[in-house]
Amino acid sequence: MTNLYQRAVTAAEQAYAPYSKFRVGAAVRARDGRVFEGVNVENASYPLGICAERAALSAAVADGCRPGDLEEIAITASPCGGCRQWLYEFQLDRVIFRGADGEIASRTPAELLPDTFEL
Ligand code: THU
Repeated sequence: MTNLYQRAVTAAEQAYAPYSKFRVGAAVRARDGRVFEGVNVENASYPLGICAERAALSAAVADGCRPGDLEEIAITASPCGGCRQWLYEFQLDRVIFRGADGEIASRTPAELLPDTFEL
């Protein structure tokens, strides 16, 4: 287990998931070494919830990071389809996540989302 993945596991404890009870944590490392964490935050209006990895990426953006500045992200769950589009947009080198089979996987954003939409 990598240090970054361990950060994601620890972050998951802070998740706000009263509806699904499914706590997710994410930790993203910038090329300059900064690490940003995120958790899923649910809402009574279900579609308004945010996934852990998008929360982590948003924290990085708030601190000035832009696509290309982020090296690696670790997520305690397999990223959903919409989050895969975010991971692609931010040009991460590596996405480490816990797959449905319980194994830790390492993939590129392009492997997770082939034939990606781009503007
Ligand atoms: N969830 C994430 O945080 N990341 C993913 O990529 C998968 C799904 C969250 C959203 C929701 O709060 C809960 O897991 C159940 O879907």
